[in-house]
Amino acid sequence: MKPQDETRDHLNRETTTSSPSSLEGTTAIVTGASSGIGEIIAERFAADGANVVICSRDQKNVDAVAKRIEESGGTALAVECDVTDREAVEALVTATVEEFGTVDVLVNNAGTRFMTDFDVISEDEWKTVIDVNLHGTYHCTQAAGKYLKEGGGTVINIGLSSAASQRGTPHLSHYSAAKAAVINLTTTLAYEWAGDDVRVNCIAPGFVATPAIESGLGISAADIDRNDVERWIALPIEIADIAQLLASPASSHIVGETITVDGVPRIEEMPER
Ligand SMILES: NC(=O)c1ccc[n+]([C@@H]2O[C@H](COP(=O)([O-])OP(=O)(O)OC[C@H]3O[C@@H](n4cnc5c(N)ncnc54)[C@H](OP(=O)(O)O)[C@@H]3O)[C@@H](O)[C@H]2O)c1
Repeated sequence: MKPQDETRDHLNRETTTSSPSSLEGTTAIVTGASSGIGEIIAERFAADGANVVICSRDQKNVDAVAKRIEESGGTALAVECDVTDREAVEALVTATVEEFGTVDVLVNNAGTRFMTDFDVISEDEWKTVIDVNLHGTYHCTQAAGKYLKEGGGTVINIGLSSAASQRGTPHLSHYSAAKAAVINLTTTLAYEWAGDDVRVNCIAPGFVATPAIESGLGISAADIDRNDVERWIALPIEIADIAQLLASPASSHIVGETITVDGVPRIEEMPER
């Protein structure tokens, strides 16, 4: 069942047969799902009844995740796909439709980043980061658009916390610029596709305890202290839960939003008097 069909049921509470937050029977593509946030989103969606199609640049990486999902009773299809390669993206969408009949949800999660100063960043490095984070989102969304529009659907982009994407991040100029563009695209596309019953939203995390971040910062998920008032690092499941909400009919009136998932806000403190 398409999420929008479910949405209509959801609005008419008396005919509701399932929870509005259920993904039962929907088909979701999650890009960059071989590790980190994407992997946990795929597991979360599958546990909630979605058929998940997971992709990354390496078949064996996604095969391992698909195997785990299947062993837990879920349904997963693993497809090797570099999101910067338009032909590969078209093949990903075709494989999804052949296996499950349509695309209801697209999560543009594949991303890459590395720290470097703007002065020394090479053209290739700049283009690589823009290519994966921004052009990958463009390729996947445009390729899946026809199916998302067929009966309504949702797109979930993964951006970057507002502090970083709006004000910038030292040593990550390429990454911050790409993510700011993804957030901007979210609003524009939400408007353009609203008439086609496709909701487009974005999640903007701060730091999330994924393998890349853990090794870079020397911090692990086990170190996270939820009693710490600073609580500046999220668990991947805390991002996946928001993705689940945005994918489901429970968020039917959330359109074109970027939801920051960044823990306790950092605000100016009053100076001592
Ligand atoms: N972790 C954070 O603190 C944080 C904060 C804000 C936003 N984000 C965003 O959240 C998303 C996930 O981040 P993460 O920390 O989970 O990263 P991660 O652990 O490094 O995972 C990145 C995923 O993207 C895949 N990937 C990379 N390039 C790809 C390409 N060209 N085509 C297809 N797949 C590709 C990787 O798989 P393969 O290597 O197998 O291809 C991997 O599955 C990214 O968009 C990131 O920018 C993360």
